[in-house]
Amino acid sequence: MSAQSQSSPLFSGLPSRVTVYEVGPRDGLQNEQRMVPTADKIALINALSQTGLPQIEITSFVNPKWIPQLADASEVARGITRRAGVGYSCLVPNRRGLDSALDAGMKEVAVFMSASETHNKKNINKTIAETLVAFEEVVVPAQQAGARVRAYVSTVYGCPYEGKVDPEATVRLVEKLLRLGVYQISLGDTIGVATPRQVEDVLRRLGALCSLDQLALHFHDTRGTALANVLVGLQLGITTVDSALGGLGGCPYAPGASGNLATEDLIYMLDGMGVQTGVNLDALVDCSRQVGTIIGRELPSKYLKAHLAACRR
Ligand code: HMG
Ligand code: MG
Repeated sequence: MSAQSQSSPLFSGLPSRVTVYEVGPRDGLQNEQRMVPTADKIALINALSQTGLPQIEITSFVNPKWIPQLADASEVARGITRRAGVGYSCLVPNRRGLDSALDAGMKEVAVFMSASETHNKKNINKTIAETLVAFEEVVVPAQQAGARVRAYVSTVYGCPYEGKVDPEATVRLVEKLLRLGVYQISLGDTIGVATPRQVEDVLRRLGALCSLDQLALHFHDTRGTALANVLVGLQLGITTVDSALGGLGGCPYAPGASGNLATEDLIYMLDGMGVQTGVNLDALVDCSRQVGTIIGRELPSKYLKAHLAACRR
């Protein structure tokens, strides 16, 4: 517990330290119109590795016909300079993706599926039941090869095709995924519809099943509720939060989904509350400026906008 949080009953549940899981190079760049050159991706990941971030999701080993933006996954994984103390991960949808990821030196992979059937089908072309079977071919072989496995459950709080999603659908999947042996499950608000009471409801249900530090929160900030949702999650015992530098991000199979919670905005809030992350905010902002130049558009991060405005004064 940090000194600041101890002094206020309102913040008494906050953890003293949070793991910020940076997903920008994957979740962010998978959604950009402009193809980012491989060398720029590698330079960005190398720069992110110097900021104090403990985890960086660097790419996806998926079908390049579906996600052409990440067709250079192997080159990126082989090209980066791995820094001690930083975990590098990638998405893999199936055994083929796992094999390619392992060949390219990956030591952490993430499988992904949705709590709603329609999004699952559109995103990975399988039913939920078929997906769980396919994961059996990924999780154990990955572990045997010395890699740890994370899982994502998408559309936890709402689906772009089905609307409301029953929280019990997430509970059932989390139970099955934990049984498969993943070390952590990230709960995706794919289209950014979650509000704090919904987050509390889902986390209280999952708390009956597992320790909340086996879970991570993954918010897209489409409706501006991401930080409020994170705060509720931290008060309930969450210690890992996904975010993307600059607020990059989206899901190509979720129309209207916008950027992830911006890493700068998250770090700013955590720093201000005395919650440690180990991330140097100035160094991170330099990375966001770098990525803004590469993709050629203004990034949505509020902290970044304020910082850039202050620099212009
Ligand atoms: P499919 O077409 O059903 O696959 O795709 P298939 O098994 O029938 O194979 C068809 C072709 O794909 C074959 O090639 C395979 O070799 C190839 P062909 O014979 O036609 O030349 N293939 C692959 N190629 C490269 N790497 C692979 C691979 N597997 C098969 N791993 C598949 C099924 C899952 C592969 C496809 O649907 C796919 O790649 N989907 C990608 C979906 C995706 O990446 N979505 C975005 C990430 S999820 C997300 O953003 C949400 C998240 O951020 C959390 C949140 O916000 O909620 C995680
Ligand atoms: Mg996402």
